Amino acid sequence: MKTTIAEVKNYVGQEVTIGAWLSNKRSSGKIAFLQLRDGTGFIQGVVVKNEVTEDVFQLAKSLTQESSLYVKGIIQEDTRSPFGYELLVHHVELIHQSTDYPITPKEHGTEFLMDHRHLWLRSKRQHAVMKVRNEIIRATYEFFNNNGFVKVDPPILTGSAPEGTTELFHTKYFEEDAYLSQSGQLYMEAAAMALGKVFSFGPTFRAEKSKTRRHLIEFWMIEPEMAFYQFEDNLKVQEEYVSYIVQSVVKNCQLELNTLGRDLSKLEKVTAPFPRMHYDDAIKFLHEQGFDDIEWGDDFGAPHETAIANSFDKPVFITHYPKAIKPFYMQPDPTRDDVVLCADLIAPEGYGEIIGGSERIHDFELLKKNIEAHDLPLDSYAWYLDLRKYGSVPHSGFGLGLERTVAWISGTEHVRETIPFPRLLNRLYP
Ligand code: 4AD
Ligand code: MG
Repeated sequence: MKTTIAEVKNYVGQEVTIGAWLSNKRSSGKIAFLQLRDGTGFIQGVVVKNEVTEDVFQLAKSLTQESSLYVKGIIQEDTRSPFGYELLVHHVELIHQSTDYPITPKEHGTEFLMDHRHLWLRSKRQHAVMKVRNEIIRATYEFFNNNGFVKVDPPILTGSAPEGTTELFHTKYFEEDAYLSQSGQLYMEAAAMALGKVFSFGPTFRAEKSKTRRHLIEFWMIEPEMAFYQFEDNLKVQEEYVSYIVQSVVKNCQLELNTLGRDLSKLEKVTAPFPRMHYDDAIKFLHEQGFDDIEWGDDFGAPHETAIANSFDKPVFITHYPKAIKPFYMQPDPTRDDVVLCADLIAPEGYGEIIGGSERIHDFELLKKNIEAHDLPLDSYAWYLDLRKYGSVPHSGFGLGLERTVAWISGTEHVRETIPFPRLLNRLYP
């Protein structure tokens, strides 16, 4: 029976054949232990000299790292293995002999590993991070489908800039200028007016000259947008959504979180509702903590966010930021003119901002005034203004950065390990 490592639990005591790669090996005169992986999982194959032909035993002993094989044997339960099963090998067939695999079990530097990202992805840790990423994506679709949202795909090539014009990737679009999307938000607002509650999931691009553990040039964003939702309604969706993906990972990625050494008790606490802190209070709090490098009106840096996050064991919303440091489309606070109805969600443990969101301006004149005040070309935004001309309604939405969320949930220090092929300031290879 041909099967995969993920399926072996259904074949205890039976003979199976698995297509696999050899990730590591130990052998002595009488026995060889093959560490096998097939993408679906990891299992140890045990080759006992007296139970296979001499040829097979010699082959098993000579196998090199990352050679590909068909391995035939009996599945046994094994309580010592974290996976719970092992394979008592009867036969090994070599598919392809790998020579001088560059990533050996010893330590390698980050740049070396990044240069070999196409191979590094095969390692147990990277495999676990990709599985966590996949679970977050799966749970995202499940959450929004269960809650009546429609998936809508905004364009990647755009003619307008939602998040400011300094970080745009420019390209020619025949005779016109185009930009790679920084955010699908403006299009999602149009979609919300057509479909009510919508969400997108796609790549976004920021030509940011930032070299931090939280910044990618190309990253994936989940952007929900809801008609008739105001500030409070928006926060409620966010805390329920984030709790849902965290608890889905806790439930469905136990093996991976163990591999990553993630502290599950920290994740289990992440349930709605989440604490909130007004921007004014955040500034006061930081001053009390001894930060004298920040004053009212400034944006937070990573150390500020971390200091705030550290006083909670759940993600925390920082709300009502100054108008001057936020984009043109945010709805002003009705009680005062200097702050907007927005919130950033800051992850615990120093992982930083994972969500930016707000209520959107729905008044035509105010939006037009803001577009002009930000020196944005009115004609590129004519369609966006139209949404305020034909049955404008209050609406809200947010964007969750997938890679920062994967980094937090998987406990991965740097976002470069949370996307298969990271695009960084100095990296377009591989
Ligand atoms: O806060 P941002 O810039 O918000 C927007 O783009 C809104 N238009 C979203 C919306 O309301 N629909 O980005 C949203 C999130 C951030 O909180 C962060 O998680 C992530 O996107 N993000 C990045 N992730 C990795 N690398 C970067 N350079 C990122 N920039 C933003
Ligand atoms: Mg932001």
